[in-house]
Amino acid sequence: MTQIEWTEEFSVGHAEIDREHEALIAQVNHIHNQLKLPMDSTAVESCLADLQDDISAHFALEELLMLEAGYGEYASHKQDHDQLLDEIQDMIFHFSEDSHNGKKLLMDRLSDWFSRHFKDFDARLHDQLG
Ligand SMILES: [Fe+2]
Ligand SMILES: [Fe+2]
Repeated sequence: MTQIEWTEEFSVGHAEIDREHEALIAQVNHIHNQLKLPMDSTAVESCLADLQDDISAHFALEELLMLEAGYGEYASHKQDHDQLLDEIQDMIFHFSEDSHNGKKLLMDRLSDWFSRHFKDFDARLHDQLG
């Protein structure tokens, strides 16, 4: 697991979406740092819950803007959002059941979980949102 670094090339050209992407990257990186410290399950669970809430709200906003803009790839983009929500739910469940193995899963998957969508689906939104 590596830290995700924000660069301007990730900008999709919509101020609110770009701000949220920066904030979400900071949250993912914060969890990454927490996992390197002696285990504090409660703190990690709290940050994961915040990330889940914020990413749900972010996806809802992106989907609304895509619909408003008549974006042609809406359906596949939304499908990937739905899959990401399932995956974070899965990671959170595993962590709450077994923090030792759940931590390994998070270390393996969390930053890829976000950056894969971000560098592929979200990158194609560039200048497509109102
Ligand atoms: Fe997206
Ligand atoms: Fe996004």
